Amino acid sequence: MLKKLSIIAATALSLSAGGALAAGGAGHIEDVDFSFEGPFGKFDQNQLQRGLQVYTEVCSACHGMRYVPLRTLADEGGPHLPEDQVRAYAAQFDIYDAELEDDRPRKVTDHFPLSNDPNAPDLSLMAKARAGFHGPYGTGINQLVKGMGGPEYIASILTGYTGEEKEEAGTVFYENTAFPGGWIAMAPPLYGEDVEYADGHSNSLHHEAEDVSAFLMWAAEPKMMARKQAGLTGVLFLVVLSTLLYLTNKKLWAPIKGKKLDL
Ligand code: HEC
Repeated sequence: MLKKLSIIAATALSLSAGGALAAGGAGHIEDVDFSFEGPFGKFDQNQLQRGLQVYTEVCSACHGMRYVPLRTLADEGGPHLPEDQVRAYAAQFDIYDAELEDDRPRKVTDHFPLSNDPNAPDLSLMAKARAGFHGPYGTGINQLVKGMGGPEYIASILTGYTGEEKEEAGTVFYENTAFPGGWIAMAPPLYGEDVEYADGHSNSLHHEAEDVSAFLMWAAEPKMMARKQAGLTGVLFLVVLSTLLYLTNKKLWAPIKGKKLDL
């Protein structure tokens, strides 16, 4: 018994030590209550449109979104822009057309452009790529319990600059409380009041950061609503099925179980 216990203790210790190592220098992530959290959560169409604006006016200078088709900007449950606006939006980005052997404006059937800055990662899937691993020892517990994931991480990066910077081997690094390791090679892209929102929503640093993070969540998982709905339908179906099975079972066994045995 004692031997067994000590083996368990040793395993637990080594596991947590490994976890602590893996999480070495993990950043601090602020929790944000996004509209799309929880089983009934939905993307906020206005927020997605504001986030698109921040992405377009600020982030797209460096970051691409190569896997996101431009036509999805018209999708219901997404930013839901009118078709003509999507067409005009697409046309502002050029793309090389091998048939024309020249550049032409993008069409709605094209995707968002690639990153302009070779060091800036593509943002199409960033909100999902950075979803897990938050919480003690990188266990991902925070995602499960508080719904904290990729969008919180991105918002925390955008608001986590301390103002300190240093230069190493010709690259400037900026101190950031959310970035693992504490120093990121991206200059603070947002300061607040970087864009002028058409709907008059506050454009403070925090609001801009949340809006663009929500938009990037949508970009990474545009069908989140449909997935949640399917999950909910599945659970309801299982509840009904279990109840029916339980009642059937009761009924089938009633004549036998209910009988007093005459011994
Ligand atoms: C001037 C160019 C530039 C602009 C503008 C810019 N970024 Fe970045 N971004 C970078 C670079 C370079 C990196 C890579 C940093 C690194 O790995 O240290 C990066 C990294 C990131 C990362 C990844 C962090 C990680 O975990 O690897 C995210 C998320 C991000 N940027 C979001 C944004 C958002 C959102 C905006 C717009 C509000 C934006 N960036 C604007 C250059 C830029």
